[in-house]
Amino acid sequence: MKIPKIQDLDLEHKRIFLRADLNVPLKNRQILQDFKLNSILPTIDYILKNGGKVILATHIGRPDAKSQTNFFDENLSTKIIQNWFRQKSYKIKYEVDLKKAELESNQNFDEILLLENLRFFNGEQETNLEFAKLLSKLGDIYINDAFGVCHRDDTSVTLLARQFDKKHKAFGFLIEKEIENLEKLKNNPKKPFILILGGNKIKDKIPLLKNFISQKRVNSILIGGAIANSFLKAQSKDIDKSKIEENSIKTAKEILESAQKNSIKVLLPKDFVKVNDENVDIGSETINFFDTEIKRAKTIFVNGTMGIYEREESANGTKQILERVANSNAFSIVGGGDAVAATFLFNFQKQMNFLSTGGGATLTFLSDQNPFLEMPGLYFIFK
Ligand code: 3PG
Repeated sequence: MKIPKIQDLDLEHKRIFLRADLNVPLKNRQILQDFKLNSILPTIDYILKNGGKVILATHIGRPDAKSQTNFFDENLSTKIIQNWFRQKSYKIKYEVDLKKAELESNQNFDEILLLENLRFFNGEQETNLEFAKLLSKLGDIYINDAFGVCHRDDTSVTLLARQFDKKHKAFGFLIEKEIENLEKLKNNPKKPFILILGGNKIKDKIPLLKNFISQKRVNSILIGGAIANSFLKAQSKDIDKSKIEENSIKTAKEILESAQKNSIKVLLPKDFVKVNDENVDIGSETINFFDTEIKRAKTIFVNGTMGIYEREESANGTKQILERVANSNAFSIVGGGDAVAATFLFNFQKQMNFLSTGGGATLTFLSDQNPFLEMPGLYFIFK
């Protein structure tokens, strides 16, 4: 399938509506990690270099703006990221009023026009043609580079894209890279292919697990983090006072059974680091046990962490596993907010083959039979 690319469009003197995913982790209006911001720069630089004006739009967080007009939350405002661009010497102007933005979109082509958090407008998270039309007035060309939100129905990645014909819309470099790398996990990945899962919620991983197991895509699955407790419990093993998600034991049982049927190995922790009798990290025996599998692998996908990696007492498991993946000879991809954040925290980002900017979007892309038909944000660029 031919991917519509930004390089195929003439950008000179055009206003480019760039839908990005700059949903960065924030605390007290400080950016905790700027991976998503750095990842959009190649597309911005390309537009500016080719004489286009960048109209930059993103969501941040999950503000509840529905049924409210003039919603504003300074803790989720794009003003926070405006400063980041300024520090990188970009000329950038922030505009909250979309009507004013329309006038400004025709001025100062060397300056980025940054719109306020799209989720402050109540049309963004509902199917709202009026909002799509309002946004479409801000650009002559629409570029979707917001991979992290392509599994959502948000107006700015669906109905807005529909307002532009095929000659005036495409994906940016970030999505192009996401597709290129994630497809390597879908199309004949080198075997052994291992999946390293962690984190808190099995629910988020079910489609991926079902797809990878039923299609026999992977050879083994290594499970750590809080979700490992549900799998251990499903095997009637002791998990001490660790809490597990409701109904997750049944799901874990089904997954274990189907893995067995398809001859896929599932490796569960053998020991834990505990705090107040709760499992908070995998122990050293488990690290070595997982390491044997990592050493054999030719392809690795990591999603989720092995423990509460933000705390010193429970960071080692995640650090050790990421280190082993980073030093392995396998083609490695890390996806999902926490796993990527931990990769940066422990400084292994340069040794991984690819870090995905998506959380749910990455899992959806990998699980869908045909993501170009099933993920709204991808589909509406082809349509
Ligand atoms: C993400 O962080 O995964 C994306 O920005 C999507 O955010 P959402 O889950 O709030 O839609």
